[in-house]
Amino acid sequence: MTMPRLSHRARSMPASPIRRLAPLANAAREAGKKVYPLNIGQPDIPTPEAILGRMARFDAPNLAYGPSQGLPEFVEAVRVYQQRIGLPVETEDIFVTTGGSEALLFVFGAIADPGDEVIVFEPFYTNYNGFAGLVGVRSVPLQTRAEDGYHLPSEEEIEAAVGERTRAIVLCSPNNPTGTVYSREELQRVVSVCQRHGLFLVSDEVYREFTYDGLSHVSALEFDEIADRVIVTDSLSKRVSMCGARVGWIVCRNRQVMESVLKFGQARLCPPTLEQFLAAGLNEVPESYMRDVITEYEARRNVVVDALADVPGVLMRKPEGAFYLCPRVPVDDSQKFAEFLLRDFDVDGETVMIAPADGFYATEGLGRNELRIAYVLNRESMARSMEIFTRALAAYPGRTA
Ligand SMILES: Cc1ncc(COP(=O)(O)O)c(C=O)c1O
Repeated sequence: MTMPRLSHRARSMPASPIRRLAPLANAAREAGKKVYPLNIGQPDIPTPEAILGRMARFDAPNLAYGPSQGLPEFVEAVRVYQQRIGLPVETEDIFVTTGGSEALLFVFGAIADPGDEVIVFEPFYTNYNGFAGLVGVRSVPLQTRAEDGYHLPSEEEIEAAVGERTRAIVLCSPNNPTGTVYSREELQRVVSVCQRHGLFLVSDEVYREFTYDGLSHVSALEFDEIADRVIVTDSLSKRVSMCGARVGWIVCRNRQVMESVLKFGQARLCPPTLEQFLAAGLNEVPESYMRDVITEYEARRNVVVDALADVPGVLMRKPEGAFYLCPRVPVDDSQKFAEFLLRDFDVDGETVMIAPADGFYATEGLGRNELRIAYVLNRESMARSMEIFTRALAAYPGRTA
């Protein structure tokens, strides 16, 4: 009996570079190794009491469905948050989603048809490809380079990538996987192209607060000239360390986009109820929490950058935000190197798990000599991880000149 075949979509969907090495990591742990997980943006930072403490106050008799666009109490918390950070929007401009992930999926579904294209700056957050692919939309990559600190190409280069089927440009600042924070002038290049060519600007701002060295984030919502074309995707996963809660949202002033997103949202009924109730404490999180978290990440970044600064063959610029860096490393293939770390290498029974960078590129063959490190562990663990990492680089048989 022949098996029915799966969709082309299912067969062509790549496994996430962030998670595909999980079986090797599990095997390493079963063999007694300690594995430092630097492959995933899962912070070890406690969720604030102003959020987690609300658990005891949840007194509904059951975990009921809520409205598709989000619990009113949480939508209001988002509105107040937007006001507080100087990016005020109306209640109807907010749509709550099951994480920033669902926000991306709904947005791609709303703005592009199968066969349409979105321009992405590579390396890019790997799941842009995943979600665009799920709705048949093609990611057209424009390269940014380690040598330039992964800053954006010129306006002319961006414009040259616009084609008949381009529907949007997708941005992420502070960036995952590179840690780059785009300046106002850089954003302006993208805004101008979107304006001239009638494109949406999808701005993923989940790391908005995570900027270092006195830099500040510039939001796409600040550009009035394309106010009705900007779609911001957002999330509390990293901001207040509640990745497992799956709470995010879309901000958009375009009514048609929001009406479409609502229909998608009605199909999935509602985002998680209890988690939104908890997240409604967002504005009670003391300012000192965010300040301390950012100071901590900046220190962790410095540990990593200092550890890698003098390693022969490693090329990187100090990341400016988020909690990732994407160094170029002297290896033949970072996937093989990541496997080597988990399968064949340890220092006194300890090793590290990293994400190969090829999955952050849409261009075939790129990223093989780059990898992503998430500095989400405490300073001591990061220092130890970097010691293991640099010793592994020296010991790796596929090391290149
Ligand atoms: C740039 C970026 N966007 C979106 C997401 C999705 O986050 P979540 O679905 O947890 O809100 C992530 C998660 O790592 C991310 O790094």
